[in-house]
Amino acid sequence: MAKLWGGRFAKNTDAMVEEFTSSIAFDQRMYREDIAGSIAHARMLAKCGIIETEEAETIITGLSGILADIEAGNFSFEVSLEDIHMNIEKRLTERIGPVGGKLHTARSRNDQVALDTHMYLKREIADIAERLVDLQQSILETAEKHKTIIMPGYTHLQRAQPILFSHHLMAYFFMLARDFSRLGGVWERTDIMPLGAGALAGTTFPIDRFFVAEQLGFNKVYENSLDAVSDRDYVLEFLSFASILMMHLSRLSEEIILWSTAEFSFIELDDAHCTGSSIMPQKKNPDVSELVRGKSGRVFGHLMAMLTIAKGLPLAYNKDFQEDKEGLFDTIDTVKFSITVYAAMIKAMRINGNRMEQTLTQDFSNATDMADYLVKKGLPFRQAHEVVGKSVRYCIENGKFLMDLSLEEFRQFSPLFAEDIQDAIRVETCVANRNSFGGTSYQQVELAIKSAQQTVISE
Ligand code: ARG
Repeated sequence: MAKLWGGRFAKNTDAMVEEFTSSIAFDQRMYREDIAGSIAHARMLAKCGIIETEEAETIITGLSGILADIEAGNFSFEVSLEDIHMNIEKRLTERIGPVGGKLHTARSRNDQVALDTHMYLKREIADIAERLVDLQQSILETAEKHKTIIMPGYTHLQRAQPILFSHHLMAYFFMLARDFSRLGGVWERTDIMPLGAGALAGTTFPIDRFFVAEQLGFNKVYENSLDAVSDRDYVLEFLSFASILMMHLSRLSEEIILWSTAEFSFIELDDAHCTGSSIMPQKKNPDVSELVRGKSGRVFGHLMAMLTIAKGLPLAYNKDFQEDKEGLFDTIDTVKFSITVYAAMIKAMRINGNRMEQTLTQDFSNATDMADYLVKKGLPFRQAHEVVGKSVRYCIENGKFLMDLSLEEFRQFSPLFAEDIQDAIRVETCVANRNSFGGTSYQQVELAIKSAQQTVISE
């Protein structure tokens, strides 16, 4: 098909080069933004007296027709027309004649693609924000429903101290709350309008960039034309947000996978969220969690790729920037899918509270509480640590746990132990006593859940 930029060329483009340089296969997903941006641009051209009002109307009618065609599946995207911008412009001229050629006045594909990408990302950020709130809600509901179940808390994946299962889940809620707030920052810096930068230097026509920004719902306008066409930091920021979010989900995935093992059996995922094995009839695999954990890798990859693409580029536009889109689109799809499937999966999973609490009868995670008991009776913490350490060793050698010791046995290690020691090291007491702000006590977790409910409402 004849090129919109064909004038200077004596020869046709090599077919392989055409295919290699074209982006229509992936940038066609920005057709709505491209058309909305062009309509705003045409209105502005007429308002500023650069084209006639009737010409703008003809152009806008033509563009609306193209939009309807694309949505109805009646539009064939041509590789020879390179990208979404030229596919639409070429069809416009076919539909309405040479007046279609006036649309590209005071505009370049460089500022056009920047505009489309900003608009597209803004739409997706709004969608992702909503889904993120759903996921937070699902975590919050699950925490609230199982508020008082006690589980072992870990460091180094070794049992450390008893905690509330709800406290553990709420840790993820707060990570996601920060992700949500980070996304707000990405929105702010994506909400800047680049059109009117022209190819790189602005334009000789008396355009009104603020009018375009207002029509398209942008809060700000890029203040430097070179920056407007060659900035991709909003893409990088989105990819950074997405990488951190996926890292959080990957850690949660790892725990869900672990908790679903026969060895842990802390939770059971719903059948609807698992898959089986083609050979082992008994298998029920946590594929969703494994995939989310795996997919975090490709999102990190897209962030690294974009940083690498941008790092050596001189101002202003370079074709290298065309490489921004596939990683961005794939990241958007991956994040949306991951958070949506996770919201459903968490809501449906079964929590095996008995099993969690039963594991605590077979360990030493109340040892810190035993030391704290002695400290409250006046012993310096270091000495208390030593006393409890020796008691633990005694228990291990005698096949016992701390709560199995008799008062006489306790007193072998320190005369400070009295009747109340047994109650002081019950797991419920261990949990209830960790009442410092942000701790795992029933009271603190209750407060955290209340505060989280407020956050979700205001998000
Ligand atoms: N398809 C191009 C991109 O994605 C659009 C801008 C091309 N501009 C140019 N002068 N070749 O970046």
